[in-house]
Amino acid sequence: MKILSIETSCDETSVAIVEDRTVLSNIISTQIEEHKIYGGVVPEIASRRHTEAISHVCEEALKQAGLTYSDIDAVAVTFAPGLIGALLVGVNFAKGLALSLGVPLIPVHHLRSHIAANYIDTPDLKPPFLCLLVSGGNTVIAEVTDYTSFKIIGGTLDDAAGECLDKAARCMGLSYPGGVNLDKIATLADNKKYPLPYPKVSTGEYDFSFSGLKTAVLNLVHNANQKGEDIDVPVVCATVRERVCDMLINNTIGAAKEFGYEKVVLAGGVSANSELRARMEKECKENGFSLYFPPLKYCGDNAAMVGAQAIYEYNDGNIGDASLNATATLPINYR
Ligand code: KG4
Repeated sequence: MKILSIETSCDETSVAIVEDRTVLSNIISTQIEEHKIYGGVVPEIASRRHTEAISHVCEEALKQAGLTYSDIDAVAVTFAPGLIGALLVGVNFAKGLALSLGVPLIPVHHLRSHIAANYIDTPDLKPPFLCLLVSGGNTVIAEVTDYTSFKIIGGTLDDAAGECLDKAARCMGLSYPGGVNLDKIATLADNKKYPLPYPKVSTGEYDFSFSGLKTAVLNLVHNANQKGEDIDVPVVCATVRERVCDMLINNTIGAAKEFGYEKVVLAGGVSANSELRARMEKECKENGFSLYFPPLKYCGDNAAMVGAQAIYEYNDGNIGDASLNATATLPINYR
């Protein structure tokens, strides 16, 4: 089945053509440069840019795959969660396209598609496995019991890991998207001397809290600014990155042991983090687990991962119609 898939949940307009786990084309038009001047995504601007870009991006995806509209067997689209105005552009474009082509419309949950980024080019990866899903807005540990079946066993009580890294980066003057730049600058540090806290959580054993760590970085930087003191930016970056990785790794490895998973999967934008990948690889090796993470090009938002998940949603009977609507928040284990 050749699936034309669409992603517009945040600041990337992306269209891909995917056949099973093979990507025939994957076009991404990013708005990063435009949002950079505001230090973060401005939702209204994001929606307008998606509207301008989507037809061209779609044409380009078909062209690069060497296909025409008549070759398309289904249209898939990210319908939740995300920025509502941004999602609406993709959902309405997809509805119109599916209707005009007379092919099925497949609604895809954004976080499920981040997990499916791991399926591309990795034929041996099949559920069940344990997944650490870390993106700009979500931090979740989930049991992926089947392609469309998820059990959440831990999550953040406040900020997502990506949000913590982005805001820490922003207060040190690093440009958007901060997490990426923080990761690069952290590699220049020769120590991790700053006394940043290890947040403790009293709810579930595998839950997270990142807002205290974020606030500690903001206070550290503001206090130094007020006193006219310099901070060592690479060292702050390395310290906060280490704290975030400690929490993510401890909980994930602990959960894999307790729930008996031998396959551990990373997903979402923060899975591009170099320390997280390297340390997780070491931990998994020591514990006899197999580790999977997406290629860097599929870590951030893209439509190829939407297409990779879409076939499983379709097989499970998850077909949309003209009443499909965008939804800003929706848990990954929705039915
Ligand atoms: O998954 P994603 O592209 O968008 C959402 O669906 O949220 O994730 C974006 C997040 C941002 O917080 C960004 O700073 C972070 O992923 N990110 C990274 C790295 N690359 C992207 N965080 C840490 N290290 C990286 N190398």
